[in-house]
Amino acid sequence: MRTIGLTPVNDHPTLTDGFGRRFNYLRLSITEACNFRCNYCLPEGYCPDTKEQPLTVDEIRRLVSTMSQLGTRKIRITGGEPTLRKDLVEIVEVCASTPGIEQVALTSNGYRLAQQLPDLAKAGLTALNLSADSLDPRSFQTITGHDKLTAVLNALDLSTKLGLKTKLNSVLMQSFNANEISNFVRFVKDRPISLRLIELMRTNDNAEFYQQQHVSATGIRDTLINQGWLAQNRSQLAGPAEEFTHADYTGSIGLIMPYSKNFCADCNRLRIAANGNLHLCLFNEANSNIRRYLGHDENSAFVDHLQQVVLGKWQGHQLENNYSGTTSQLAMLGG
Ligand code: 5AD
Ligand code: SF4
Repeated sequence: MRTIGLTPVNDHPTLTDGFGRRFNYLRLSITEACNFRCNYCLPEGYCPDTKEQPLTVDEIRRLVSTMSQLGTRKIRITGGEPTLRKDLVEIVEVCASTPGIEQVALTSNGYRLAQQLPDLAKAGLTALNLSADSLDPRSFQTITGHDKLTAVLNALDLSTKLGLKTKLNSVLMQSFNANEISNFVRFVKDRPISLRLIELMRTNDNAEFYQQQHVSATGIRDTLINQGWLAQNRSQLAGPAEEFTHADYTGSIGLIMPYSKNFCADCNRLRIAANGNLHLCLFNEANSNIRRYLGHDENSAFVDHLQQVVLGKWQGHQLENNYSGTTSQLAMLGG
């Protein structure tokens, strides 16, 4: 046993797969439901196709406690849209107060988030990712189905004021925002945020849209380097972005390029869907449902199961072969 603060944390080795990758980052989806209709994700809006209830706060408490004993240090709460859950503040609190958990992040579309943010920060939230695929209100509405750019940008400002580590996600699309890159770059000039430019990923529902809209970020990478942006070293709990900074800019820029070589080489994350399905990769089948272990505090069988199941993680995704696993859209797993 070792101690963090005053509370003992069981000293199991960090979950490690057959390729030596260690998992210290858990992406936890708490609902599949979403109130947006992003064109690459839920163009028809969310329609529930299951009666399964999402994990309860008690189940989440047990899950997070066991994962932290197995080396999880960062949790990102995702959806769907997590703010649709009435008990979000409680969930953040449960994650943040679990011994061993150092960072609790939230990914949200930002709609109606601003009024909840102070409570979330008080509950222990340390980081927030919002999305704006366009900085033009009309094209934001075209992409998401909602005239909510101002609400998202207000939430972004409040997040930085509350001292949260704040990122803005933007999915690159040929005919919706590929002409906005210089606006996006300008946006981080004086804002202490990180802009994430994300290559559109193929899912089973968006295959045709993907063919039409996918843009590689390698050209943007070259332009940034020519403009004096410098690539940064990746920190231990970091996500998959290649991060760039510039002496004249307060903010930074991260490129997420899942189609580039070696993207999966230093994968450090596992995913749990809202129904308790464990996904070792965003683009594979669910590898097991762990809900059966979450009804009681005794966790030795759960620990054994997790240690075994992570050994089945593939070396990399198969997106280059147009294989997206069982991932219909990212709302089911939170990206
Ligand atoms: N490709 C890339 N990014 C996506 N997201 C959702 N679906 C896709 C996709 N097919 C992004 C959202 C949000 C994050 C959780 O994932 O825009 O920023
Ligand atoms: Fe909702 Fe996120 Fe999907 Fe947009 S990308 S529809 S905000 S889950």
